[in-house]
Amino acid sequence: MTRLVLGIESSCDETAAAVLVDGRRVLSSVVASQDDVHAPYGGVVPELASRRHIEVIVPVVDKALSDAGVKLGDLHGIAVTQGPGLVGSLLVGCSMAKALAWVHDLPLVGVNHLEGHIYAAFLTDDPPEHPFLALVVSGGHTALYHAAAPLTYRLVGQTRDDAAGEAFDKVAKLLGLGFPGGPIIQRTAERGDPRAIEFPLAQISDGSRDFSFSGVKTSVSQYLKRRGPLSEAQVADVAASFQAAVVKMLVRRTVRAALHVGVKRVVLTGGVAANGPLRAALAAAAGEHGIHVHIPPPRLCTDNAAMITAAGDARLAAGQRAPLTLNAVPDLALA
Ligand code: KG4
Ligand code: ZN
Repeated sequence: MTRLVLGIESSCDETAAAVLVDGRRVLSSVVASQDDVHAPYGGVVPELASRRHIEVIVPVVDKALSDAGVKLGDLHGIAVTQGPGLVGSLLVGCSMAKALAWVHDLPLVGVNHLEGHIYAAFLTDDPPEHPFLALVVSGGHTALYHAAAPLTYRLVGQTRDDAAGEAFDKVAKLLGLGFPGGPIIQRTAERGDPRAIEFPLAQISDGSRDFSFSGVKTSVSQYLKRRGPLSEAQVADVAASFQAAVVKMLVRRTVRAALHVGVKRVVLTGGVAANGPLRAALAAAAGEHGIHVHIPPPRLCTDNAAMITAAGDARLAAGQRAPLTLNAVPDLALA
């Protein structure tokens, strides 16, 4: 029997819904971005995010169903992001999912947003086999998970301060480039020299597999204060040098962790995994050690509901069910 599952994602500033067949084939995937709402503030404003989710959640779910050519009565289950994320934002998706599950008497499952990011890798032509290591790099998280078997995760390392995406967003703000910072830094960096300025990487020498990005961000801030106003070419050099430092930290630590854990497959996912130089550098460095890197296409790396539906389908297939008392958990841990 085939399973038709509707998934809903509203953990941060994207309202998204998708319909998948058997957790693999994407019939529809609708993402309503809120960048226009938050851009004037240079970051996500939680209260405004919840309000926009409330305004668009019904049309977004309707569009996902109509794009898929599916009616609510055809579904076999509903998956929704339960956490981690902004509580007000999560609640909108959870309320919608619970209402639909109750009215249509459908099985409901809560999904961890980070597991969703990992499941984006299963929606490609090159899905990873277990065991693998997953580097989840987003606006809120930077973490390495060892997935020894389906639905099991062990935290191998994480950021001690800022998430990688947060560092991109903050440096873009310092450079006056706009929001969200990641894609703008990447575009600006194309015109700059990544070797122009050496922004020092934090040394973590206690043998852990952790990351740290606040040092790089602070050195960019100090450099900008020292130099005063920059020309366009100098801004491009700062963007390129900053990006190179972040990429180096992510790649070095991930390859080292993969060798330490002894896996031959690495998944790179989350919004920052849309970054071209990071994708190329990790694939090259891992390749030197015979490690294969699975990277979803950029539209599946940034927040979307197809990935949430894929993870939810795996949990529904494993017999998991959430009660209608399912609640948002802003700090939900994956491992
Ligand atoms: O996964 P995501 O869409 O949302 C969260 O779960 O946080 O990640 C958003 C983050 C933002 O910080 C954004 O600046 C970053 O991903 N990002 C990028 C790129 N595209 C998005 N960072 C670097 N390069 C990119 N091309
Ligand atoms: Zn995300």
